[in-house]
Amino acid sequence: MHLTDDEQAMADGRDGPAVARAMDLLQRYGRALGAERLVATNNVVASISATTPFMRAYARSKGGMDAVFSEFSLDSDTVVAIPPVKTFTVHTQLGFDPGSAARMGVDEQTVHFYQQGEDWTNAHGVQATNTCTPYQVGNLPTRGEHCAWMESSAVIYCNSVLGARTNTEGRESVGAAMLTGRIPYWGYHRPENRVGTHRVTLGVDIVSTSDWGLLGYWIGEQVQERVPVVEGITQHIPNLARLKHFGAAASSSGGVEMYHLVGITPEAHSADMAYGGRKPLAELHFGAAERKRTWEQLNGTGRDLKVDYVMLGCPHYTIEQIWEAARLLAGRQVHPDCALWIFTPRAIKSLADRNGYTQTIEAAGGHLMTDSCSAMSRAAPKGTRVVALDSAKQAHYLPAILGVQAWYGSTEECIDAACSGQWRGVPA
Ligand code: F3S
Repeated sequence: MHLTDDEQAMADGRDGPAVARAMDLLQRYGRALGAERLVATNNVVASISATTPFMRAYARSKGGMDAVFSEFSLDSDTVVAIPPVKTFTVHTQLGFDPGSAARMGVDEQTVHFYQQGEDWTNAHGVQATNTCTPYQVGNLPTRGEHCAWMESSAVIYCNSVLGARTNTEGRESVGAAMLTGRIPYWGYHRPENRVGTHRVTLGVDIVSTSDWGLLGYWIGEQVQERVPVVEGITQHIPNLARLKHFGAAASSSGGVEMYHLVGITPEAHSADMAYGGRKPLAELHFGAAERKRTWEQLNGTGRDLKVDYVMLGCPHYTIEQIWEAARLLAGRQVHPDCALWIFTPRAIKSLADRNGYTQTIEAAGGHLMTDSCSAMSRAAPKGTRVVALDSAKQAHYLPAILGVQAWYGSTEECIDAACSGQWRGVPA
């Protein structure tokens, strides 16, 4: 792999052993991918926290967070002192909400350990955004900007909606990127890999967030890791929340990291531009039958109509979605046999607190929570057997992770389930 003089100096130890280990990791990673060079980045989304029991035990026995970072982020066989980050780095979601630890079944010792870890992370210059939606809270890269992001739902938003460039990175590659400001130049960093491969035409209107979730889930299954191009969206232009759900769904059922919406997303002013002048490899059509089949698939585990738990906020809710949930809950009560947890970034919760939405949600018996979600934390209210969700991504993962039944529907249907304790959703 070709290294610039600056990169070679980092690899040779000019900036200390941790940076040299990071360069070694990036070269091994890049060679495995067939990358011929690295590219500069000043935008990293990373997971650094050590909230699993194994990592906590490792930190205790080997000497704290430097040891955890050396082993799990740099693949270093010796513990090296970790310097402050060189690049702008924000933290992804965590394993629990520190403000709701008891509710999520997390003990005080773990919370204390986590707080020490967060002190270490902050002292190294990492922003404690703690969300799967960094683009909502101040990390909004520009078109063409090279990034190194973790979290599939954020990656697809970054590439497709913002036109910035990233692959779905892992803890190790972003650990190396934040210390060096480099990431291998391959995959979606290269313009030729960003062009559309599959044409998707529509036989039904895609209007609601739930419609976008169904479309995304179906497309992901069809194209897997290719680049779909959706044509024919001229009315009902999707907002942030709809594209957030669409991308999260497509990256769950498949491994989609990039899509184009002709006339909407920045690299698809026209169909010709979206396909890069090439012919699509395949033609796909999403009509009423496909929508119905996808709804049935997402509701495939739902049998009992009595709902124990409603989880909203996957990916983390926008302030608009919190406003909508608060309006739907105003003057109502969550059923005594049901729980309602809504997840959002902590910065957006501050806004919801100031606007009074948190109070409305809490007054109704629900909870506005941050930093994590049920899938990440593997936590649900005690005794949960049946959940209701407005996220195709969460409906994809939660039954497998927690062994629960799941109903998928609109936000209105989910709030209705929280207040009635019953699933009364209408099939698509
Ligand atoms: Fe975010 Fe959890 Fe969904 S991390 S994307 S809310 S699975």
